[in-house]
Amino acid sequence: MTGAGPGVLTVANQKGGVGKTTTTVNLAAALTHMENRVLVVDLDSSSTATAVLLGVDADVKHTVDDVLAPNGSLRPEDARAAVVPSRWPGVDVLPSDFSLAERDQDGDVLQERLGTALGHLEEYDWALIDAPPHLGRLLGSAVLASDSVLLVTEPAAVSFYGLAHLRRTMHAIGEGYGHRVDIAGIAVNKVQTGTVAHRAALRRLWEEHGDHILGLIPQRVPIAEALNSGVSLYALASTSRGRSAAMLAQEYEHLAARLIGLPAPPVALPFDTSEAARAAESDAS
Ligand SMILES: Nc1ncnc2c1ncn2[C@@H]1O[C@H](COP(=O)(O)OP(=O)(O)OP(=O)(O)O)[C@@H](O)[C@H]1O
Ligand SMILES: [Mg+2]
Repeated sequence: MTGAGPGVLTVANQKGGVGKTTTTVNLAAALTHMENRVLVVDLDSSSTATAVLLGVDADVKHTVDDVLAPNGSLRPEDARAAVVPSRWPGVDVLPSDFSLAERDQDGDVLQERLGTALGHLEEYDWALIDAPPHLGRLLGSAVLASDSVLLVTEPAAVSFYGLAHLRRTMHAIGEGYGHRVDIAGIAVNKVQTGTVAHRAALRRLWEEHGDHILGLIPQRVPIAEALNSGVSLYALASTSRGRSAAMLAQEYEHLAARLIGLPAPPVALPFDTSEAARAAESDAS
């Protein structure tokens, strides 16, 4: 964490649809469950996180764009005026709307505003930024405002290609501004360990990124259902999906714990990752 503001984590991948928003909001719920005060910053003009957390017809007075736009109606120091409580207990949100798309074109003035704004929201322990699915100025702003970045990927080669490039880009953005951003790790989403293809993809990811893998989130109906109905997994507890939802909520708690350095069980990769297995493999090759 830097300064008096919250610890800031960006959830990113330039590839669309891999589960950035799903991971952001479920991590927010998990961190709240672990007694943290959490703000979700929706930095995507498609506003999925805003819709999930506030409802599709939410009528908000201000959005993050009012803070980031060069002639916006709020100074970054006054970002609190744009923060609203969400429908998810304990989670607040700095919402977005489509106007945010214009900020990807703006000049350098925008880049440090987000960090300034979040630095003034010292009532939160964590701010989670849901990043847009492309490398633009908004993602640059998110990186500059962040202490660390969580990369989200699906267990498929096509989703991995961009990871190394994204890691390099993030470091380059940070270095350009003298800001050190830490890649916290990788969350692999929509995992089906029963399939040969996913096991092979996970093995390859492990060989390339090893200890950076912080969590495997399975592909499960309650996750999609919770997101689509705008409720957290905890809120599904009393439904027929309650048992499965509770187990999935716990997966996000483990991911959250690994991210913030609290004890958590090791990531359950579907193959032997012991030193002995590594040694046997290098002997064989
Ligand atoms: N673990 C999961 N199990 C089942 N469905 C999932 C899971 N993760 C995400 N989904 C579904 O996949 C879709 C895409 O997820 P999400 O919106 O979180 O991706 P995204 O990376 O934020 O997309 P975008 O790049 O458009 O912002 C959603 O319909 C969501 O419900
Ligand atoms: Mg999204």
